[in-house]
Amino acid sequence: MKKAVCFIGGILLLSFIGLKVKKNIFTYPEYWPKPVYDIIKNPVTEEGFQLGRALFYDPILSKDNTISCASCHLQASGFTHIDHDLSHGIEGKIGTRNSLAIMNSAWSDSFMWDGGINHLEVQALAPLTSDVEMAETLENVVRKLDTIPFYKKMFYKAFQDSTITGQRVLLGFTQFTLMLNTYNSKYDKYIRKEVGGEFTAQEKNGLKLFRNNCASCHTEPLFATNKFKNNGLAVDTTLNDYGRMKITQNPKDSLRFKVPTLRNIQFTKPYMHDGRFETLQEVITHYTNGIQQSETLSEELKDPILFTHREKVDLLVFLRTLTDKEFLFDKRFSFPKALITQK
Ligand code: HEC
Ligand code: HEC
Repeated sequence: MKKAVCFIGGILLLSFIGLKVKKNIFTYPEYWPKPVYDIIKNPVTEEGFQLGRALFYDPILSKDNTISCASCHLQASGFTHIDHDLSHGIEGKIGTRNSLAIMNSAWSDSFMWDGGINHLEVQALAPLTSDVEMAETLENVVRKLDTIPFYKKMFYKAFQDSTITGQRVLLGFTQFTLMLNTYNSKYDKYIRKEVGGEFTAQEKNGLKLFRNNCASCHTEPLFATNKFKNNGLAVDTTLNDYGRMKITQNPKDSLRFKVPTLRNIQFTKPYMHDGRFETLQEVITHYTNGIQQSETLSEELKDPILFTHREKVDLLVFLRTLTDKEFLFDKRFSFPKALITQK
């Protein structure tokens, strides 16, 4: 009898937990470092991810209903824009920086080129409220979403409560952003010794050159580091963007910018915080011939990098192995049809 009571109690308890605790869908290769974002405390659920996906693609979030996050962050280019150097927002207004790719964000401890945002859960506020991006307020976003039954349902599924709040909107974005993870490039298959990951002699040599000259900042496996560095770009005297110094007011941070990931770099052009380079060839030429000496120039780049023509080509060929087509064309991250059919 006692056993039976325990059994029934157990089932009741499990079904209760089952209702509350939803399955975490965030995964990553076991040999990767632990994410900075606390996934255990804030697991990503399918329902939260789908809510965030709808929000990410919905222009209703901007003041005049024309600009969505995806306007500047296109999947096929690693969630950045490619057709112009500085971002274009509401009413054709031009921003001051090149949009950043959104990939493997759970491993970043700060966001934006100058690290001005230190937590993913508040990141979306910046583009939502920026005059030159979406020019909206969080209150208005909540008000607009509240009139749409589709979103009431989506919020209910994600939070077991259909009340739409600013915080929940931001959490929705976070859940979607956290899922934009790329680790199935040819390089990854090479590291895992999988089929399709056989490197040519040229790619192997490119990797070696990369490890000797670039990996101190663009560190494997993320090809980024949570640091701000001056990589020797000439100052653009129209934009006068001094990067990290804007946030810290410390002259030591002058011209230091976030070290961006190089994953899918073949498709994230144009390059650098102001989109000054159109091609990877130009980027490599910058590192070999264009480094500007200054007080804050990174130690790693003080000695010139000398590559032969062949070595430049090998490095370029290696950089292309960081392309992850499974990620760039993953339908789960694309425009959700439900936005048209159900809204
Ligand atoms: C008008 C173009 C534009 C729109 C719209 C836009 N972004 Fe961005 N995004 C940018 C630019 C430009 C940057 C880099 C900003 C900077 O460094 O100051 C950026 C940076 C980011 C980053 C930081 C990535 C990193 O690794 O540091 C994330 C995440 C992001 N955007 C998500 C979003 C989300 C979510 C939305 C929608 C709520 C959105 N963006 C809307 C242009 C845009
Ligand atoms: C001292 C650190 C450091 C080293 C070493 C370094 N980089 Fe960078 N890299 C950066 C920083 C910082 C940026 C962003 C600079 C900016 O936009 O102002 C950057 C940007 C880039 C970009 C543009 C990324 C984008 O999304 O726009 C590419 C491509 C790149 N680096 C490739 C390389 C290669 C190839 C090497 C080796 C030859 C290398 N880097 C060495 C720090 C470094």
